[in-house]
Amino acid sequence: MNSTGNSKPVSTNQNGIHKDLDAIVRKHCAHEDRTPIPTFVEDSLDLITQKHRETARPLWLDSFCGTGMSTRLLASAHPDYLIVGVDQSTHRLAAEPQTEGDNFLLVRSDCESLWRLMARQKIKLAHHTLFYPNPWPKAAHLKRRVHGNASFQALLALSDQLELRTNWNIYASEFDYALTLSNWISQRQPITPSQVLTRFEAKYSRSGHTLWQIKAHRQS
Ligand SMILES: C[S@@+](CC[C@H](N)C(=O)[O-])C[C@H]1O[C@@H](n2cnc3c(N)ncnc32)[C@H](O)[C@@H]1O
Repeated sequence: MNSTGNSKPVSTNQNGIHKDLDAIVRKHCAHEDRTPIPTFVEDSLDLITQKHRETARPLWLDSFCGTGMSTRLLASAHPDYLIVGVDQSTHRLAAEPQTEGDNFLLVRSDCESLWRLMARQKIKLAHHTLFYPNPWPKAAHLKRRVHGNASFQALLALSDQLELRTNWNIYASEFDYALTLSNWISQRQPITPSQVLTRFEAKYSRSGHTLWQIKAHRQS
């Protein structure tokens, strides 16, 4: 990872919100995603469920956690929660030796499949954070972004509140718009964190990028 503070801003062939976003979000919210769940994702949920049973604390998912820096920091700031960091990269998860603590757990999984499986099992999260998911900045890659993916409906079913951070203004605007379409109340703003929560956040801050935060909750 580039740690020198000269990370380039996201480069894209989009001028603003993707023209197909509206139709894609409406389609995904109208139809349940029945994509099969890989076995390794079922295994990852077994690990989470076991830890959840042991700790008996409200569950907070930290999706796309990378090395788990945010997971560890959130766990020490919120001892009454079980914080579970999820990332697909074994390499990133192994960057720091400890993958489990009193109130945190790091698991290798695929976020989108895990959200689907948790939603099917009606698992409820107390909170959900998604810090700097891959932007997929080419217009053709809209469906790989969290809000353009068929798993978006499952993501929304899991919790009544969530927070996403990104260094790409269009991603922030699209996510904000997709939430609003889904009847969520969403607030998008640039932030200067008093404590950096992730490795990418540190890199983007050093590089002078604007950091966008979306905080949202379900409309009651
Ligand atoms: C830009 S990095 C951000 C990591 C961390 N949140 C941070 O800010 O330092 C995006 C992370 O998402 C992970 N990732 C990408 N797609 C994923 C998926 N479908 N399921 C789980 N992890 C995924 C990558 O392995 C990578 O660690």
